Amino acid sequence: MTTVSLSFRPPAPKPRETPLGPLGLIAALRRNPLEIWTQAHYEEPVLVGRTFFGDRAVVSDPAGVRRILLDNAANYRKDDLQLRILRPALGTGLLTSEGDAWRAQRRLLAPLFTPRQVAAFSDAMAAATRAGVDRLARLRPAWIVDMSHEMARLTLEILEHTLFSTGLGRDASDFQQQVSRYFETVGRIDPFDLLGLPDFLPRLGRLRGQATLDWFAGAVDDIVAARRRLIASDAAAPRDVLTLLLEAQDPETGRGMSEEDLRANIVTFIGAGHETTANALTWTLYLLSQSPSWRARVEAEADAELGAGAIDTLADRMPVTKAVLEESLRLYPPAAMLSRAAIDDDEIAGKKIPAGAVVTVSPFVVHRHRRLWNEPDVFDPERFLGPARDSIDRFAYIPFGAGPRVCIGMGFALQEAIIVLAHLAKSFRFDLAPNHAVRAVQRITLRPHGGMPMIVTPR
Ligand code: HEM
Repeated sequence: MTTVSLSFRPPAPKPRETPLGPLGLIAALRRNPLEIWTQAHYEEPVLVGRTFFGDRAVVSDPAGVRRILLDNAANYRKDDLQLRILRPALGTGLLTSEGDAWRAQRRLLAPLFTPRQVAAFSDAMAAATRAGVDRLARLRPAWIVDMSHEMARLTLEILEHTLFSTGLGRDASDFQQQVSRYFETVGRIDPFDLLGLPDFLPRLGRLRGQATLDWFAGAVDDIVAARRRLIASDAAAPRDVLTLLLEAQDPETGRGMSEEDLRANIVTFIGAGHETTANALTWTLYLLSQSPSWRARVEAEADAELGAGAIDTLADRMPVTKAVLEESLRLYPPAAMLSRAAIDDDEIAGKKIPAGAVVTVSPFVVHRHRRLWNEPDVFDPERFLGPARDSIDRFAYIPFGAGPRVCIGMGFALQEAIIVLAHLAKSFRFDLAPNHAVRAVQRITLRPHGGMPMIVTPR
């Protein structure tokens, strides 16, 4: 391995020496929540304190993370700030519902994400990827392309061939633009929400996001109407997420899904199912562009393995690519902050968590924590290769969360990302556009500010 890959420290905000005051915190949360973290956050297992906004805890200790997300998960509900940002678009779909409503939806949708079912999606994923590769190949050689935009379009097209197999009824790039606009507007944390001010007070971001919400409502109406027509006709409807949602009957209650929850879940699976994976892919292409030795290894693996066996075994045959992807998810976890509100008092790592406290588990901080990782800010996929991988604590590496609310699409996303990376690495080489400064910004997901302009050269 060369020194280049060992010493490469991809850009991240410098941890603060001291915590921000209330106004500074509001400004930083609005600008880029990654900027609020202090050195203590990266060094201490648990920080608890009373702030201007109420009781707050930041937990990075793996045993504490385990307690919140798994062992005592029933004591932690999704917190109000998060729900205020997500619910206007996602209603009470799987990501944003709680209690029995959540359990019923999860039970219903789980069969679509079993390893077997996900493997069955791999041919469709590969076909959509090849179409994306053809699109890039038609560009002029050495053209500069915003790969963040391209990846969002491709992951959306993959959804259209898997979970929504008769398509979304609108152009993928329109969808992609609307989702992106929503994240940029409503995804900015609003000071009114931070202060817990009532909902009747208008939020600028939400007003700006309303047009996008209206656009989504129209698109979802069309999707549902088209599928209902298909189910009503004698034609066999595909067994995808849409048919499952429409035919849903809770096994315990026998009830179908309400119209409202149906719509919420359609938007949830479009939103959660493409933007996260697109960001993971974009960050991975960027990291590889800065690490010639790892890029060469990924290219060699793609050359050897793509087409050398069944597509649903690709992830197992590409351990280096998988390690690079996992390292990318460590350094730039698309879901950079998970938060919960404590229902009752609890204790974590000897510290009292009072009822009502907002508890944050930040994958971004946990993945760069000084006590948990060697050289935490250095890009080194070797951590995820061979026996080294086994020594990583399950609760120190949480790009997909953990416990009952773990990402339902984890297997889907990992398989998809490997298929896409293999095809891209086999066909092209990606270099960062000259003079482009890369900066990670958290807007619901962790995105590269200003996109990721890259020179795409056919190999
Ligand atoms: C690299 C890609 C992805 C990342 C990093 C990611 C990350 C996450 C995380 C961290 C959570 C847990 C949130 C919490 O505990 O508060 C989550 C939940 C969820 N994800 Fe993903 N996700 C990805 C891809 C996907 C895909 C492809 C889908 C759908 C096909 C999806 C659908 C969902 C849903 C519906 C939930 C809510 C699950 C529940 O609460 O029961 N995600 N995701």
